[in-house]
Amino acid sequence: MTKVSPSILSADFARLGADCKAVLDAGADMIHFDVMDGHFVDNLSFGLPVLEGLRKALPEAYFDVHLMITNPLAYVREFAAAGADCITVHIESSDNIRSTIAAIRACGCCAGLAINPNTPAETVFPYLDKLSLVLVMGVTPGHGGQPFQTSALDKLRKLRAECERRGLHPMLSVDGGVKAATTGPQCVEAGANVLVAGSAVFCAEDVEAAVQTFKAL
Ligand code: DX5
Ligand code: ZN
Repeated sequence: MTKVSPSILSADFARLGADCKAVLDAGADMIHFDVMDGHFVDNLSFGLPVLEGLRKALPEAYFDVHLMITNPLAYVREFAAAGADCITVHIESSDNIRSTIAAIRACGCCAGLAINPNTPAETVFPYLDKLSLVLVMGVTPGHGGQPFQTSALDKLRKLRAECERRGLHPMLSVDGGVKAATTGPQCVEAGANVLVAGSAVFCAEDVEAAVQTFKAL
C-alpha cells in the first residue's frame, strides 16, 4: 500500500498542531517536515522549536524531516533530539554525506537521502545500503505548489530497479508536485511507495478524502 506523508509547508501555521492531527486522523502515515535555511534553498520555513512542539503535541506521530539546509551534519543530533523519526538530507548539500548518514543512524533515526531534479539517480547508489528512505524531488526544492518535473519518474524506476537487484528495501519517496489524479499514480507506477504531498492535501476541500485517495494509489 502507498504511504502518504503530507508536507506541512502548506498547512495553516496558526493551527499547525490541529492540522497535523487532522491528517493523521485521516490516515496519513507520517508528517513531512520541510526545513529550509535560505541558503541551500532560497526560502525559509521552520526548524527545531516547531518540531519540538509538534512532537510534544503528537507523541505517536512519525516525523519525516526533510532538511533543505547547508551542512546538515551540524544539525542532525538536534533534530533527532527534537523528535525526528527519519532525517533526510540532500546529497547536494554537503561533501561528507557518508558521515552525515552515519550520524543520523547513530542518533537512532532512519536516514534518508534526497536528490534534486538535476541530480542523477545513480549518485545515490553508493549509499543505498545505509538508507531507510530515498527522496526523489519532483520540483526544485524551496516552495510548495510547483509543477512536477517528469524526469523524476525515470529516476524512481532506476532506483526501484537497483534496490530490487541488491535486495534492498528503503522507502522510495517522491516530493513536489504530487497530485492524486495525475502525477501520484505515475510515481507509484514508477516505483514510489511514499508520496509527499503538500498543497494537494492541505489545500483540498476535503482533507480526509485527499489523504485516503493518496493511500489507495
Ligand atoms: C518543496 C518541499 C515539498 C513541498 C511539496 O521544497 O520539499 O515538501 O512542500 O509541496 P507540493 O506538494 O505543494 O508540491
Ligand atoms: Zn519536502
